Amino acid sequence: MLKNKSVLIVGGAGFVGSNLCCQLLQEQASITVVDNLLSAETDNLPKSQRLSFILGSIANDRVLAQVGKDYDYVFHLATYHGNQSSIFDPIADHENNTLTTLKLCEHFKGSSRLKKIVYSSAGCTVAKKTYDEVGATDEDAEVSLYHDSPYQISKIIGEFYGNYYWMKYDLPFVKARFQNVYGPREILGAGRWRGTSATVWRNVTPTFIWKSIHKESLPLENEGKASRDFIYVGDIVNGLIACAINGRAGEVYNLASGVETTIKELAEAINHLTNNSTPIAYTNPRPWDRSGKRFGSTNKAKNEIGFQAQTSLEEGLKKTIDWTKENQNLILSNISKYTYFMPELSTYL
Ligand SMILES: NC(=O)c1ccc[n+]([C@@H]2O[C@H](COP(=O)([O-])OP(=O)(O)OC[C@H]3O[C@@H](n4cnc5c(N)ncnc54)[C@H](O)[C@@H]3O)[C@@H](O)[C@H]2O)c1
Repeated sequence: MLKNKSVLIVGGAGFVGSNLCCQLLQEQASITVVDNLLSAETDNLPKSQRLSFILGSIANDRVLAQVGKDYDYVFHLATYHGNQSSIFDPIADHENNTLTTLKLCEHFKGSSRLKKIVYSSAGCTVAKKTYDEVGATDEDAEVSLYHDSPYQISKIIGEFYGNYYWMKYDLPFVKARFQNVYGPREILGAGRWRGTSATVWRNVTPTFIWKSIHKESLPLENEGKASRDFIYVGDIVNGLIACAINGRAGEVYNLASGVETTIKELAEAINHLTNNSTPIAYTNPRPWDRSGKRFGSTNKAKNEIGFQAQTSLEEGLKKTIDWTKENQNLILSNISKYTYFMPELSTYL
């Protein structure tokens, strides 16, 4: 459906962005990627004559001038990855997470060609902070004024700006609220050092898979009681495209599997699929994180943009484990950049 369309992907060298590039190339779109490689590598980008790459921050006026305005669709996936990096360096978060959205809105307001700008928001910004049993979080859930990290603040401010530019300037801004994405092309240690070990151990699923393949014990905080909604990256890509084509400007859609899985269940599933019998290691909860249980409601996305996740957790984990095994050298080359900051990583080399 995006055949011959001109598409800008901001943050396109990252995990979700590179998967989106692959899918859009299959659909014969022409792609421009802008990325400053803060948490990505160009190795992750597919090679194609239909894809051009601009190195730099989308918050930079020179880069924006180079990017121009001649696009049918824009996907804004840039972020300062992730919660812990943002706590370590809130200013860097502001520059790469909040400011990127504001600059993009300013740049594209009044663009006559633009059909949709799809913004990657995060379900964590609206989920209740609780360990009690929860129902699925709807799109119109209340937004708290008290967040756990600058990252979460930036993600929701991005929604505020998008809403403002839609109301004031008719900017066709659609918000896609992701739950926890996992899948191939999420490279541990991709990009630059961002102050904490979360530069390498960037998300729970790739971390567990890597450690499990290496027959290590998986670290479970707070007995693994927290729950999340894990959605396969292939599904997220389809959801982003559904937002671009069918999403209504000014609206927000959850991109969720709708399935609640505890972190303990995730660890056990990964240990099982990788034949890792090393016992789980129980650790203390992260002091900053009040997010206990959460998962997303799928009704609105299903009814209004025709999106439903198709990949079961087991199927998605199998694909991700296979990809990780096949790409161990690529991952190792990224991890090895940080042995100076994290000497314990030398054991993998
Ligand atoms: N992965 C998840 O589970 C998840 C969940 C909720 C929301 N999201 C959102 O989805 C988007 C994609 O996430 P991801 O997991 O692919 O992360 P990622 O870190 O792999 O991708 C982000 C990309 O943005 C780039 N970037 C950072 N600052 C930039 C700037 N100033 N200009 C241009 N590019 C810049 C990074 O180098 C990277 O390539 C992010 O906006 C993230 O907040 C992701």
